[in-house]
Amino acid sequence: MTKFSDSVYKIRYAIRDLVPLAREVERRGKKVIYLNIGDPLKYDFKTPRHIIEMMYKASLSGYNYYSDSQGIYELREAISHYLKKRYSIDAPPEHIVVTNGVAEAINFVVRLFTEPGDEYLVPGPSYPSYIFASTLYHSRAREYRCIPEDGFQPDVDDIRSKITPRTRFILLNTPNNPTGALYSPKVLREVMDLAAEYNLPVVSDEIYDRIILDGVYTPPHQYVDDILYIGLNGFSKQYLMTGWRLGYIYIIDNTGNYVDKAVEGILKQARSRLSPNTPAQYGAIAALKGGDKHLKELIFKLRRRTSLFYKLVSETEGMEVHRPKATFYIFPKIDKKIYGDDREFASNLLRHEGVYIVPGSGFGVYGENHFRAVTLAPENLIEEAFHRIWSYLKRLGRLTQKSRS
Ligand SMILES: Cc1ncc(COP(=O)(O)O)c(C=O)c1O
Repeated sequence: MTKFSDSVYKIRYAIRDLVPLAREVERRGKKVIYLNIGDPLKYDFKTPRHIIEMMYKASLSGYNYYSDSQGIYELREAISHYLKKRYSIDAPPEHIVVTNGVAEAINFVVRLFTEPGDEYLVPGPSYPSYIFASTLYHSRAREYRCIPEDGFQPDVDDIRSKITPRTRFILLNTPNNPTGALYSPKVLREVMDLAAEYNLPVVSDEIYDRIILDGVYTPPHQYVDDILYIGLNGFSKQYLMTGWRLGYIYIIDNTGNYVDKAVEGILKQARSRLSPNTPAQYGAIAALKGGDKHLKELIFKLRRRTSLFYKLVSETEGMEVHRPKATFYIFPKIDKKIYGDDREFASNLLRHEGVYIVPGSGFGVYGENHFRAVTLAPENLIEEAFHRIWSYLKRLGRLTQKSRS
């Protein structure tokens, strides 16, 4: 009998769910404006040349074999130096594991800590992978509320109320996808104190730590005392290397009680997938040792594009939004009475106007009645997207801009 597993069919990655509809709209001859995927390389940003050259040289020199499952030592050493220099983090190469993107790292940590029926706490709204990892491994991701009126800061009381005997770790994501929030020092300290009170590990997805537009990034590790802290980061966003699929896990354990077991648990999984991409790892060494010119350019353009997006959302009837402080996302709230349910809105907007945004409920229960858009597109595309949104509003028989209502 051919029988498929149930769990894989429960996976919903909202960011890409509407791709078949987008293709259909394109077949009908309408140009789709893609505001769904957080990939700068889909717009006018390029991987820095010195990184590409290093990978090319490595490949020509014969570094095309499986690397060490943990990642090549030279790269782990470069990551270790980078973490020390930038954040005063003491993570030796032995406590670092290179992964095929932070996406793989998320799966590794969920499997590291959970058995079927266990729980872990993730920010709500939540990056979808945090939730579907639990679907795959038969655990439960519980979303804790982030407070919209407070710029989407985590609600520490809500985290506390959701800790049960089956809770295995607390996940933080600052800067945050999808809200663009930067968690405050006060909130981070409180979360760390709470984690210490229950002796729970903290997993921190820091993939947007360099994409700061307005405000100061507070690295959460500085409040860690006697708990296990697992940091996740990668090359996709800050080095414009999305397609290269490289990330890493670093471990901080001031107690010394957990680190060996954590590394071993991650390595057991890493060995079963053999290794990260070897030539790409050489490119990543060049990324860490090269300059940040590309990042300055990215931030410069992003500030202007995010401001424009923010202004246009603020002017649109039935939409309100917090100005993102970091990342390349914006997460407006929509009035259900005008736009309907957020999934309906996202598919209708794509079907009728060819603008691809992601429905907020794809980011969990706290995302309902919102949408997420990327702010990476050049200004003329953002303006075109809003002309189309306004024409959709007209179709609904509404006025388009607040100033005119
Ligand atoms: C919060 C967050 N974590 C992880 C990832 C996955 O990144 P990677 O390309 O390193 O797999 C993304 C990608 O958008 C993300 O937004």
